Amino acid sequence: MAKQEDQFKKVISHAKEYGYIFQSSEIYDGLSAVYDYAQNGVELKKNIRDYWWKAMVQMHENIVGIDAAILMHPTTWKASGHVDAFNDPLIDNKDSKKRYRADVLVEDYCAKIEGKIDKEVAKAEKRFGDAFNKEEFLATNGRVLGYQEKINTILSRLGKSLENEDLADVKALIEELEIADPLTGSKNWTDVKQFNLMFGTKLGASAENAMDLYLRPETAQGIFVNFLNVQKTGRMKIPFGIAQTGKAFRNEIVARQFIFRMREFEQMEMQFFIKPGTQKEWFKYWKETRLKWHLSLGMGEDNYRFHDHEKLAHYADAATDIEFKFPFGFKELEGIHSRTNFDLKQHEEFSGKKLQYFDHEENASYTPYVLETSIGLDRMFLAVFSNALVEEELENNTTRTVLKLPAVLAPFKAAVLPLVKKDGLPEVARKIVEDLKWDFNVAYDEKDAVGRRYRRQDANGTPFCITVDHDTLEDNTVTIRHRDTMEQKRVKIDELRDIIKQEVDVRSWLMKMEA
Ligand code: GAP
Repeated sequence: MAKQEDQFKKVISHAKEYGYIFQSSEIYDGLSAVYDYAQNGVELKKNIRDYWWKAMVQMHENIVGIDAAILMHPTTWKASGHVDAFNDPLIDNKDSKKRYRADVLVEDYCAKIEGKIDKEVAKAEKRFGDAFNKEEFLATNGRVLGYQEKINTILSRLGKSLENEDLADVKALIEELEIADPLTGSKNWTDVKQFNLMFGTKLGASAENAMDLYLRPETAQGIFVNFLNVQKTGRMKIPFGIAQTGKAFRNEIVARQFIFRMREFEQMEMQFFIKPGTQKEWFKYWKETRLKWHLSLGMGEDNYRFHDHEKLAHYADAATDIEFKFPFGFKELEGIHSRTNFDLKQHEEFSGKKLQYFDHEENASYTPYVLETSIGLDRMFLAVFSNALVEEELENNTTRTVLKLPAVLAPFKAAVLPLVKKDGLPEVARKIVEDLKWDFNVAYDEKDAVGRRYRRQDANGTPFCITVDHDTLEDNTVTIRHRDTMEQKRVKIDELRDIIKQEVDVRSWLMKMEA
């Protein structure tokens, strides 16, 4: 656990030190759970967004994008159920006066039991060596099965209590499990209460006439209210999807774990409109497709798992999370929800407008069902960034910090380094930058010894360093160094573009989804 916390602290400080993420309004001591993306962070974030957009919109003839406004008519949120049901169960500790999400306290308790399972696995792995079969061990070891059963029982009870709005039972569960305030150890809890997560704001200049609005808590509703506009103007035929990326806001009670849970964050959502009755097959399709997208980035198959929901949101008939192994354990990265026709029906009812589709094959009108994929861009950023940050022992007994970002996502694809700041080398290096910048984000760095510059670019996540030396002046060749292997090759300046392209081209990364 301490090792995990250490790793997480390193992630946070590296993100600041290398210009990825800053605390918002830091000079005023920051604003809790609000962050700014810095010069490198904004590039990484944009690249993740583009990678998602290309996979979703460019690669699917039947998916189009929109960019709806953050402010929406307030009735939207009555219709969607957010005014009445977008709540988190919160509990206060009477001694520490700290506030927690009751369900998260229970889930964290279960994560600790999971930690015990991991320890058993590690022990057995050590004992059995190469002969160790993890799957068999998990399915047969008595102690592991006991832990797993305990987790299942607790989560199933939590799910039922939340579904039935039985908040007294959620408190009883916390007391029975003897869950203590993580900060102080106190078990002196208040009752569990519901808390609405939407931020309110006002539209209009004078107080009397101002209209109460909400900052959207999800981007999805901007898609639902535009369903018919897009369908008609785009002549879309079911099944078809509408994709959108944009800001969402939630007044999270427990906003912690850096950019994992923020109050202002960005979502990448896609609503796929389908014929009623086909939701099961589309649910399966999007589960598989979205996992393939994640795996195409090469961040390790073992770092992902599905978590099917026991407690379904008010709009869903099936739901699963793609969980990722963050530095603090497996947590939700993306949600895939079979939302039925709940949202469109609600908007029909509240607006009085028909939101139906005429199916020529069926010769009938119906309200489409919806399959949603919803991923937090910031959470994906954290997954990519924390997974990439490694400290490597080198052969000469030194270590290097390297940010092994998937090259397709790296903020800068190459850095061009003149070996010395004289003899015409900077001029040649600048010329290479001028040429490559038409295709890639390229940095120029001439400060410090070249070894230090390599380390700096490693820590920045730049996949290639190109060094210009005196031989370059003679034969137009440079040294190209690969971030991950540290391998260096002598190549012609003319070849640089193709070498870099081969490794950073979106096409070859996305093609891995087809494999
Ligand atoms: N439209 C469905 C929806 O919003 P959700 O499970 O509440 O579903 C979807 O959110 C995704 O948005 C989550 O899987 C997560 O990646 C991201 N997300 C949700 N709340 C967040 C927060 N407070 N900070 C950062 N990301 C968040």
